[in-house]
Amino acid sequence: MNLLNISYPEKFVFGKGALEKFKNDFFETSFKRLFILTIPELQQQLEDLVLDLKQNGITVLSDASIIKEPSFADFEEVLIKAKDFNADSVVGIGGGSALDTAKLIAAQLQNTQNLEEIKGNGNLKERQTYLTCMPTTSGTGSEVSPNALFVDENGQKVGVISPFLVPDAAYVDPKLTISLPPSLTAATGIDALTHCLEAYTNKFSHPFVDLYALEGVRLISKYLLRACTDGNDLEARTQVALGSVYGGMCLGPVNTAAVHALSYPLGVQYHLPHGLSNALLLPFVMEFNIEKEYGKYKEVALAIGAEKGKTDKETALNGVKYMKELIQKCGIELSLQKAGVTKDSIPALATGALKVQRLLKNNVREVTQSDAEAIYKAAF
Ligand SMILES: [Fe+2]
Repeated sequence: MNLLNISYPEKFVFGKGALEKFKNDFFETSFKRLFILTIPELQQQLEDLVLDLKQNGITVLSDASIIKEPSFADFEEVLIKAKDFNADSVVGIGGGSALDTAKLIAAQLQNTQNLEEIKGNGNLKERQTYLTCMPTTSGTGSEVSPNALFVDENGQKVGVISPFLVPDAAYVDPKLTISLPPSLTAATGIDALTHCLEAYTNKFSHPFVDLYALEGVRLISKYLLRACTDGNDLEARTQVALGSVYGGMCLGPVNTAAVHALSYPLGVQYHLPHGLSNALLLPFVMEFNIEKEYGKYKEVALAIGAEKGKTDKETALNGVKYMKELIQKCGIELSLQKAGVTKDSIPALATGALKVQRLLKNNVREVTQSDAEAIYKAAF
């Protein structure tokens, strides 16, 4: 059994009313200058919260300038604002981009290490500023994970991964995901499902993490279509949000594999949203992996409700078929070409994917340049 190393938030609040709980908990702290990193769509919804905070003696600066997957340059701009404001606490309220940025802001407000020194796994050595996160999508699981991802000056996705990026407190209120449109619900939900699936089928999977991973796969595959069809279905939203948290809990100790490695170049080169590029690749990476190892994919197939086959491998492949149908029913057309990818870019995409060895090393089957090209072609 591999060494298990987990850091989760000290405080975790889940369910209807979590937003209110955040506010009341914050009043109990001694912090007086709160930097809120959020998204433009939410600023109006947060007006009451900001007003309440101000009436209770908290000085608040709200920033909503992160509107896409952030680059390190975007991060630096926000950091200057947070430093000028003299923030003593940070909360991220939004999707993965806002949360990842908030996490690194909290770390870098006081840190003496520069960006170059903290990139990679385990290099960030401290965070002194109080940090909370509140997701408004059910996708990244960033609110409970040690990861923050940014685009570097070469257009590569680079991770800063450190236990110091795990927030002090995470508040997950499924009601905050109600206004998310179906396309984003689908893409972010499949991202969360992929976190769980890639942890469960991971070369370095662990029985402790498997519990969350398989349950996350089951919950999201069962409820995602309902959440996409009727955004106001709070039960479906809640179950998908729970699955997303489980996915986030897999990211620190086990992490993802080939689906994520192959999806990053699609984000960089074609600016496809992270969840969408995962959705477009997931069934095809599953097919590729099943040729080598199908035991856990059989379990995945049964967890998502696919039909049992005559053999374990057949069951595993039924799972792929089921997954393709689920993704399509959620409104995502399974075609890289339809998403705007051109066939002649496949070799370069594969070269880009092969650079993401930090994730490819987790994949149950080795991925070569020609394998990666074949997966993109199958997904084309
Ligand atoms: Fe992801």
